[in-house]
Amino acid sequence: MAVKILKKESLIPGRTSRLVLEAPHIAETAKPGHFIILRINEKGERFPLTIADTDKKNGTITIVYLVMGTSTTLLENLQEGDEIMDVCGPLGRPTHIVNGGKSHKVICVGGGTGVAAMHHIAKGHSNAGNYVIAVIGARSKDLLLYYDELSKFCDEVLVATNDGSMGIQGMVTDPLIERLKSDNDIKEVVAIGPVPMMEAIAKLTKEYSVPTTVSLNSLMVDGMGMCGACRVTVGGETKFTCVDGPEFDGHKVDFNELKIRLSSFRDKEAQSIEHHKC
Ligand code: FES
Repeated sequence: MAVKILKKESLIPGRTSRLVLEAPHIAETAKPGHFIILRINEKGERFPLTIADTDKKNGTITIVYLVMGTSTTLLENLQEGDEIMDVCGPLGRPTHIVNGGKSHKVICVGGGTGVAAMHHIAKGHSNAGNYVIAVIGARSKDLLLYYDELSKFCDEVLVATNDGSMGIQGMVTDPLIERLKSDNDIKEVVAIGPVPMMEAIAKLTKEYSVPTTVSLNSLMVDGMGMCGACRVTVGGETKFTCVDGPEFDGHKVDFNELKIRLSSFRDKEAQSIEHHKC
């Protein structure tokens, strides 16, 4: 179904943008953790983006993307009022959210554009009445996403920047480890971002026996469990990110296999970018 872009906002010029899409059919049923699959035009590839926010009343959904390949470059070329040829969703399984009250402390960690997707999940936990600690990171303050948005509803927002321009100097794992050391009441951790970040977080939380959910950014084609493009191994079993995920037990994901699968497509992506420049 074609979907109109109602609002476009550059979050990091040339790198990351936020779009508000007119999609009442998706906004009506989308829950935290759900994603959509987009195709920009007839020649475009299908690619997934996790929903960053929904507004049922106005019939809109929000997505945030990093401009890093052919498809996201095509998306970045669109402007307010333009249409995306095909948007399918909501897809995947929603985040499992317990109504545990303020004694149910959840740490939601986001890195890169994963912060936007994490925002929707953190909001879901907050709406359920849980105590939400957001941990976000970036190379520097200028590249940090969603600090203001998260500050509106999270009980705490902890920041790490590589250059120390805001919050703790270091990685998102630094405030996380401090918190895990000092707070025995953390009931669960949710992590969304680059694969190495999610892998590092899962390794860390395993030491503290804190259940951890990761949202995997596998390659997807059909989004219906038919093509096998998004397969991952979780707890020794083959799973399809599009229909079984995108969220999985971080302590059971085979991250090495995931990294190999993602890197095997990088050469093809580089060729595609060159082709579209011609
Ligand atoms: Fe094809 Fe998941 S995208 S099986």
